[in-house]
Parts: sequence; structure tokens; C-alpha cells
Amino acid sequence: MANVVVVGAQWGDEGKGKIVDWLSERADVIARFQGGHNAGHTLVIDGKVYKLSLLPSGIVRGGKLSVIGNGVVLDPWHLVMEIDKLRAQGVDITPENLMVAENAPLILPLHGELDRARESQNSVAKIGTTGRGIGPAYEDKVGRRAIRVADLADEATLALRVDRLMMHHDALRRGLGMEPIDRDALLAQLREIAPQVLPYAKPVWKVLTEARKSGKRILFEGAQGALLDIDFGTYPYVTSSNVIAGQAATGTGIGPGAIDFVLGIVKAYTTRVGEGPFPAELKDADGERLGERGHEFGTVTGRKRRCGWFDAVLVRQTCATSGMSGIALTKLDVLDGFETLKICVGYDLDGVRLDYLPTAADQQARCTPVYEEMEGWSESTAGARSWAQLPGAAVKYVRRIEELIGCPVALLSTSPERDDTILVTDPFED
Ligand code: IMP
Repeated sequence: MANVVVVGAQWGDEGKGKIVDWLSERADVIARFQGGHNAGHTLVIDGKVYKLSLLPSGIVRGGKLSVIGNGVVLDPWHLVMEIDKLRAQGVDITPENLMVAENAPLILPLHGELDRARESQNSVAKIGTTGRGIGPAYEDKVGRRAIRVADLADEATLALRVDRLMMHHDALRRGLGMEPIDRDALLAQLREIAPQVLPYAKPVWKVLTEARKSGKRILFEGAQGALLDIDFGTYPYVTSSNVIAGQAATGTGIGPGAIDFVLGIVKAYTTRVGEGPFPAELKDADGERLGERGHEFGTVTGRKRRCGWFDAVLVRQTCATSGMSGIALTKLDVLDGFETLKICVGYDLDGVRLDYLPTAADQQARCTPVYEEMEGWSESTAGARSWAQLPGAAVKYVRRIEELIGCPVALLSTSPERDDTILVTDPFED
């Protein structure tokens, strides 16, 4: 049986929702392995719209096990709110079909407060975060002072953990001119939420090992995109977790050998939300047109996304760092009607041609794109379900992308509709 990891291959928002939904129908277990409720996607199933940001996509489908792994930072209040919202839409959620890793660190209100205070006060190092406390929660995990799901079960441990956290956070808060943490109020909040979260707490690594042994198909659902990876992204303008495929193993507790296929989701052009370098960004009418045609507004924050041409250099790089087996190319139809298309095939850095994105942020910011031009197409590609339905120029564009990034197209998505997909390779059957 094949287990599949899905990761975004650009800066997030590649259209993972539809592909993950399509794959989750074929999977038995769907596991999230990084990020938190900073992700956001919309699923449309039988005409019903579901908005998820923390729960794995499989939750809306009956008969699947959804798992939140230890690599995720979990806001317990958000978890309960998302569960309640979906229940109100008729989705059945129980400890039988939703499990949360006992060793997942919690996002507390103080993390969101710190995230937002830093972003609003620090004009020098503004990242453009989602303000949901993701970064501060990961900092506490690595700083060994996080409160984890399992800690909610024990009153004495909980109080000790809160005291440890306060030692660190009160000093920080003083420096930022914020009120100290109200210990009693925080403990009371945690005691109140604990019984609502603990029924879902499980040793997820064990559950997944058993699922694997019994031949279940596991889908590892990534959030964000590989260029936001804490190690390989455009640091420091990144999220605070590893986003690349290797994280599926450490973020759930399975060995890397359990991963059979890595599917990278790639948008036919490039977008980015928040600050940071973006060599192929378009600040002209073409960029506006991509944004309008592609409805490029953030699902979580509503922010307008920055848009640009397809950057083959970046995707070649993320295909390497995630070891992609194939890609799902999305939103090709957004390019319909452009007379000429450009693909970024290299960078110019102070007169030197580069075939990769350099590591230092200032060098990344100075990279200017080297473009290759391709003929566009006037016909609509929206809704195409076979290669034969695509105009010749569109097929050429896709083939050129494959060649430049060194990775084959496994799926081609031609509209938000589930069935508007050209399937080349089924990742679960490969
Ligand atoms: P954080 O993850 O909230 O710390 O934000 C760090 C960076 O990641 C910011 O540039 C965000 O805009 C970006 N980011 C976080 N989650 C997503 C996502 O789901 N899609 C796209 N960008 C994201």
C-alpha cells in the first residue's frame, strides 16, 4: 500500500484543498504534520462549503481517521471551535475519527498576543505573519517550556508548566510594554478546555504504526509551502515549522521509509502573502490580472496575495528539498488569454547568472529574474479533462515546466471542480 505526502511547492496557497480532498477520498487515514490554524482551505463537497484551518481535510468525509500529529502547534480553543462549527454543518466528529497527538505543543492566548505585538511594534523585522501565535508557540516547543496536550491531564504538571512559561514570557512582555500573564486566569482557561480536548489525545505514532501494519493508506497533508520552510524557505520571511516532506515523518512519528510518494502542489504562476523576497513578482497590470483571475486573497487573513510569473528555479529547488515524486499543477486556466507568458529560468545577482535561489536574504532580495517567453493561448482550458482538450500552447507550457523543474506532472487541475482534473499518475497506485 502506498502512503502519500502532499506538500505545497511554492509559498502556500497552491490549491492544495482540492487535491487533498481528491486524495483523501482514496485514503483511510489523513494526518497533518506541521503548522497550525494559520493554514486555511475551503472544501466544496456535494455543494456544501467547509472551511478548515486546523483539522485534516479527511474529517468531512465519513469513514476516515483524521490525525493531528506532534509537528502541529495546537490551539485547543480553536480546535473546539472548528469541531463545533463542522458539527453544526452535520459532520460527525468523535474520538474514533479524530485523534490529536499527546505530544503536540499548545498555542495559548499569550502566543497570539506576542505574535501580534511583535508584528505591530517591530517595523524592522516585520514578517507579515497570520498573527495566530504560530511562531511563539514553536519557540516555546524548542525552548522546552511548551505546554503539551498530555500536560492538560495533570493539574500539578499544568501549574508547573505555566510557571515555567511565565518566567520567560513575563520578561518578554515587560520589554514590549505588555501586561504580565494572569496565572490564575490562564490556569482556569486550561482547566476548562482540558476535558474537551483530552478525549482526542492519543499516542499518534502508535496509531499510525498500527494503521500501516494493517495495510491502511495514509495521506500526510502538508500546510503552507516549501518556500516558507524554516530551514529551506526565504528565511526569515518564513513560517516557524519544517514544511518540506521530511517533516511528515518527524511530525507524526513514522519512519521515513513509510513514505512512498511525495506530491508537490504547484500553481501555474506564483503568489506569496506577507513580506519577503519574490524575484518574479509583477507589480503591473499582468500581476493585477493574475490576482483577479485567480481570486488571490488569503483564506485566513483576507490579505491580497502578491502575484508573479511561474518561477521554475524555485520549484526545481523545492522539488529537490522535498524529494517530489510528481507534481499536481493547478490553476492553469488563470493563464488563459495571455498573449505571451514568461517563466523565470534563472536569476541575475549583481551580474552573475544563478540557477538557484541564494541563501542570504539580502542576496535573495537583489536577485532579478531571467525570463524565457512562451506563446500564450486564447482558448479556455477551464474544465479540461484530457490532454486532447488543451490547446497546443498550453500543453507546451506544461511540458516546459516539467522539463525545467525536473519532475513529472502527476495531476493537472483545470478548475476548482473535483472532476476537472487530468490524471497522469495516481499517487496511491504508483
Ligand atoms: P505565520 O505562519 O503566521 O508565522 O506566518 C509566517 C509567514 O507564513 C507569513 O508570510 C504568512 O503569510 C505565511 N503563511 C502562513 N500560513 C500560510 C498559508 O497557509 N498560506 C500562505 N502563507 C502562509
